[in-house]
Amino acid sequence: MYNWIDAAKNGKVDLKLHQRGNYTYIADTPENGLALQWLAEKGKKYRNAAYFKTVSPRPEFYDIYSDRQILDIITNLSVHGEIPLQYNYLQDGAKNYEDRMVRFEVEASTNSLRSTIELLKDNLVALDRFLKGKKKVNVIDLGVGNARPVKELLGHLLERGVLHRYIGIDISPAMLGIAERNVKDWYGDAVKFEGYVRDITTEQFDDLLVGDMLDEDADQTINLVLLLGGTPVNFRSFNDAFKPIFNSMHRNDLLIHTLKPDTEFSRRYFDLGSKSSAVTLSPIFKYILDLLNIDESLYDAELGFDIERKMRYTRVRLKAAVEIQFDLGGSKKRAVSLEKGGAIQLYRAWHLDTPEIITELGKAGFTFLHASLTEDRQYFLSISGVEHRGDVERV
Ligand SMILES: C[S@@+](CC[C@H](N)C(=O)[O-])C[C@H]1O[C@@H](n2cnc3c(N)ncnc32)[C@H](O)[C@@H]1O
Repeated sequence: MYNWIDAAKNGKVDLKLHQRGNYTYIADTPENGLALQWLAEKGKKYRNAAYFKTVSPRPEFYDIYSDRQILDIITNLSVHGEIPLQYNYLQDGAKNYEDRMVRFEVEASTNSLRSTIELLKDNLVALDRFLKGKKKVNVIDLGVGNARPVKELLGHLLERGVLHRYIGIDISPAMLGIAERNVKDWYGDAVKFEGYVRDITTEQFDDLLVGDMLDEDADQTINLVLLLGGTPVNFRSFNDAFKPIFNSMHRNDLLIHTLKPDTEFSRRYFDLGSKSSAVTLSPIFKYILDLLNIDESLYDAELGFDIERKMRYTRVRLKAAVEIQFDLGGSKKRAVSLEKGGAIQLYRAWHLDTPEIITELGKAGFTFLHASLTEDRQYFLSISGVEHRGDVERV
């Protein structure tokens, strides 16, 4: 403030001053208010370099992410103050996820993996009813992870002699590699894994099914689309992926969706770490911060539940102002400045109760057909179709 008074006295900034006794004040006028606001913004822009702790992403960062993904990370950081969770599943991030799932499988307490397996197993009879009369079943597993939840379902369809194709779609090539290896370990050559790298929030998958849908057996072929493990609760909007999924599906196809619904228990429970006792930042989220070279001395981790938005979150709060300097080669340089005290959101999970989940599917056009809860009522499965009964006669 005193600097601006001096600057105004020297004619360097345009502020009206007010003298009382020995003291000089900045006059309280609307013009001065605007000028001060402008000066503050300008001050932020021209803050000297020492104000920011400058970091540069590690060389591996540029190997792991494409230019488009890096630009997306930059935009998400500067516009939304977040790093989308999906970028944590690439490369070694896939290994972190697989480690967590291996732990989940042997853990005594309930968790997302065991609940999904339980739900799929419990609903095989219902599923057989929906698949009745179909000779070929294509399983399209969206956000396939390590494929563990579908092991028994694939075995069941194999045994019935109806499994035609198993297609895994994931943002992470490394995750697809793990899924392929697992499927080969379980079923050898009996199941051929087809993996595709795609973003399910923006890309459809109907192109992968054209051959089957034009085949003479098309009438007896059904696509069983799986969206397991609550992947959509982490998207910016819960329904981000529903439209591309709906638009990729055919008349008789089915969507199986599993997730943890909002309950008092789920609000308290944070199963995020790879160690049961983890209260600090899980390696799953630390992965991308490390790749960006944001050292843990620069932030405090925060886990919480936002009651108003019904959203669970993990974020880091910066202890210093940080500037991330991205160098995509040649003149392609970008910088993102983050303020001291500002937050970077690393994880969100929307909490929806079961009626809300069904409503969201309905808004995307799906027809609700069947639902089920785990015995402990903490995990939910729904089966939806795309066709309304009334349409059948008209087609
Ligand atoms: C929560 S895990 C669920 C994995 C598996 N379905 C299960 O139930 O164990 C989310 C998976 O979806 C993938 N994924 C996340 N966002 C994605 C996106 N936008 N497009 C494609 N895959 C995505 C991740 O790489 C990860 O494998």
